[in-house]
Amino acid sequence: MFLRLVYVSNLSDDVSHENLDAIVERSRARNERTGVTGILAVDDRRVLQILEGPPDAVQGLYERILNDRRHHEVVEIDRRIVDARHFGSWGMVRRSMVDVVMLAMTL
Ligand SMILES: Cc1cc2nc3c(=O)[nH]c(=O)nc-3n(C[C@H](O)[C@H](O)[C@H](O)COP(=O)(O)O)c2cc1C
Repeated sequence: MFLRLVYVSNLSDDVSHENLDAIVERSRARNERTGVTGILAVDDRRVLQILEGPPDAVQGLYERILNDRRHHEVVEIDRRIVDARHFGSWGMVRRSMVDVVMLAMTL
């Protein structure tokens, strides 16, 4: 049983795409330790992230993400318990919005 949580947000003006790559790298390592997988899609300043993993791990991470000043207007758009991961092999990778929409169609 896994929690899948999806949110959108807007990157703060002082976050460059290089900063974002660094966030993704650090996230990948941390998520591997906590069993969280998912994707981070970025379209200019707009972010959509899908997190999947053990419910406590995903919830704990989401609370840190909510308090992260590198983005704002964080809005949760979906939260559900799923039997299997859909983004299990993705680690935390950065994808285009188009890819994410395509993937969402197969959920
Ligand atoms: C758009 C965005 C996505 C993030 N995604 C993750 C993530 O998937 N995993 C993660 O550990 N941290 C992620 N972070 C960083 C967390 O908000 C937080 O800084 C990190 O978990 C370290 O928490 P701490 O500073 O309280 O130790 C993300 C930050 C932003 C701005």
